[in-house]
This record gives sequence, structure tokens and C-alpha cells, in this order.
Amino acid sequence: MKLREPGFVVAIDGTAGSGKSTTAKASARRLGFDYMDTGAMYRAMTLKVLETGTRITDKAGMARLLRATRIDLSWCKGRLWVKLDRRDVTSAIRTPEVTGYVSEVSAVPAVRDKMKVEQRRAALGRNLVCEGRDIGSVVFPDAGLKVYLDCDVPERAARRVAEWREDGMRTSRTSVTANLRRRDRLDSGRKVAPLVRVADAVLLDTTMLTIEEQVEIVCSLVRRRLALMERA
Ligand code: DC
Repeated sequence: MKLREPGFVVAIDGTAGSGKSTTAKASARRLGFDYMDTGAMYRAMTLKVLETGTRITDKAGMARLLRATRIDLSWCKGRLWVKLDRRDVTSAIRTPEVTGYVSEVSAVPAVRDKMKVEQRRAALGRNLVCEGRDIGSVVFPDAGLKVYLDCDVPERAARRVAEWREDGMRTSRTSVTANLRRRDRLDSGRKVAPLVRVADAVLLDTTMLTIEEQVEIVCSLVRRRLALMERA
């Protein structure tokens, strides 16, 4: 396929815990595309804010912090690695502290500006499956395919609890449910780049779908769009 600049972008947006990461990763692997987890970038920034004790209301402090921060994503040994100022933070960005604060940090306009620039730069010349909250609406409004994932809250909570248990972390379904609802509210209600389902996004409700089915739907949509582009 001929590459445009950026390449073919699959934008996957949706609510917290709706299966974006699993679907995006597996679809990217199957299509031979690169994978970008923009939530991981917001999480890395949140870790930096927490570690430095910067107040997100301190505009000058946040501007300084953003200038002094470097976030790198790399794909190695079948896994996405996240580096913050060259330090591996792949696990550190998944703690409850980071998860509990990331929606606040990601609502800061200066944070979003920096992430958007980085995400667009990283996409140049690459075919990409990119997941987040504002990918189809703001970061890549010309994406070749936009998918919006959603899922019932009880099902999302059950999946999250099972994932955490697998990783040896204990948590209750009640607190996971409360956290999911809170993050959805903050992500959809913020002023800058809120989570929205744009009109040209394909809605995928994953409540009753298996991962395999989700991935197959995304991949066949991509193949169909690519075939149309080749013909045009
Ligand atoms: O996908 P995730 O749960 O790892 O994302 C963490 C947070 O980052 C999420 O609560 C909202 C924010 N986020 C965002 O605002 N915009 C994105 N493109 C990706 C994530």
C-alpha cells in the first residue's frame, strides 16, 4: 500500500474499560500496523505530576514541567513499553494513584496540546492503530477508519476486576464501578477534547462480543476501506 502522511490511521475511541486496548493491540498485530496507546502517555504525564508534586492549577509550573518532560512509547517483545524521561514506567503508570488522577491531568489544555503534537509526529509515515478518547475527533480527524467502543458498566467492571486479579491486585467491584463512572463523567464532561462519538465513527458495543469478534470486525472494516482506496 502507498503511504500517505500519516499512513492509514485507525482511530479507536471509547469509554474506560470498554476493550479499546485489547482490541487495538490485537487489530494492529493482525494488520501489521503500529499501535499507539495515547492513554499511556497521559498516564506517564500524570505520574510525573504526582512525583514532582506539581499542582495542575499552577499554569507556569505545568508549562515548565511539560517542557522538561519526555515520553516515549516503544513496541518490543510483544509488549508496549512506556518511558518517562528515559525511565521505564510501564508498570508504574497502572497504579490506582495514577488511575485515580489521570482524568484531572488529561483535562489540562497545555497537557493535551503537547500530547496531540507528539501523537501526530509519531504517526508520520506509519500505518497505525491509535486508541484514546479524542483520536477521531481531534488528533486524527481524517483517520481512515474511526471506531467508537462502548460496553455496559457492570460488564466493564467485571472485566477490570478479573484483569486486576490476574495481575495479583485486589479490588472490589463497587470501587471499580465507581471509578469507571467517574472517569467517563470527567472524560466526557471536560471542556477541551471531551470524549465524544463523532458522526463518522462506527459504533461497536462490546458487551456481548468476544475479543476475537471485536478484532475481526475492526480488521475487516480496515481491509474494506483499504480496498476502496486502492480502487479510487
Ligand atoms: O485509556 P486509559 O484508561 O489508559 O486512559 C487514561 C486516561 O487518559 C483516561 O481517563 C482519559 C485520558 N485520555 C484522554 O483524555 N485522551 C486520550 N486520547 C487518551 C486518554
